[in-house]
Amino acid sequence: MSKVVESHNKRAIVTGGTRGIGRAIVKELASRSCCGVLFSDVAFVYNSCDECAEELLGEIDYPGIKIHGFKADASSMEQAQATVDAAIEKLGGVDILINNAGITRDNLLLRMTEKDFDDVISANLKSVFNYTKAVIKPMIAQRYGRIVNIASVVGLIGNAGQSNYSASKAGVIGFTKSMARELASRNITVNAVAPGFIQTDMTNKLTEEQVKKLVQNVPMSRLGNPEDVAKVVAFLCSKDADYITGQVIAVDGGMTM
Ligand SMILES: NC(=O)c1ccc[n+]([C@@H]2O[C@H](COP(=O)([O-])OP(=O)(O)OC[C@H]3O[C@@H](n4cnc5c(N)ncnc54)[C@H](O)[C@@H]3O)[C@@H](O)[C@H]2O)c1
Repeated sequence: MSKVVESHNKRAIVTGGTRGIGRAIVKELASRSCCGVLFSDVAFVYNSCDECAEELLGEIDYPGIKIHGFKADASSMEQAQATVDAAIEKLGGVDILINNAGITRDNLLLRMTEKDFDDVISANLKSVFNYTKAVIKPMIAQRYGRIVNIASVVGLIGNAGQSNYSASKAGVIGFTKSMARELASRNITVNAVAPGFIQTDMTNKLTEEQVKKLVQNVPMSRLGNPEDVAKVVAFLCSKDADYITGQVIAVDGGMTM
């Protein structure tokens, strides 16, 4: 007796995939049993550091998976569409989108420039619109899609000195819930993960004193690591999360409970 189960690798696009949380997500999706099949093929997008992209390609050599890097600015609709088209051509389709690219330009509002505000909204919120718009046609056509947007706890509770960043992340949360409602009937789930303070280049800018103060507000008394976030993202893309949509899952050591 024998049985053949048809399955193919899922195909994922991850923005901001070369560093920190995005890098951990690329590795997690490529290596874990995702979506009821063995691996995900991954296209990652980055806008700087070609060496980081080369290094990441070198680190992932699981047999039978495809990994591609694309250099593009996620805040440009034109570049997002071109990147998604190229990724679909390389991977043969798209099942998963992780909107992870993001920047900070922190300052108190009194000192914040219009450019600081616009740059953060473009990189963190407009990019989510761009990539989501570019993938939903093929996802609707195939009646399957998993979209995970990386928000932040400051999109939930705000933070002095981060009005631009927290506005962008609150926007990501509103966008996530609206897309979840628009796309649920097409078997496309849209969720957000809201990390707390995670040890990456983004938080490495903080002084030791600032970190000490921040950790006082974390019940688990430590910063998170990128893998803590990546595993939740991979879960939301897995078959086990098929009935979860429109949710915001905080990965923050209990900070916002
Ligand atoms: N580190 C934290 O504590 C923390 C907390 C909450 C949320 N987040 C969010 O998690 C995500 C990843 O953060 P991280 O800490 O890994 O940051 P990071 O600075 O280490 O990496 C950011 C990545 O985004 C890419 N990127 C930035 N702007 C881009 C653009 N316009 N086009 C294409 N790529 C772009 C960069 O190339 C890089 O690969 C961000 O959305 C961030 O806001 C981080």
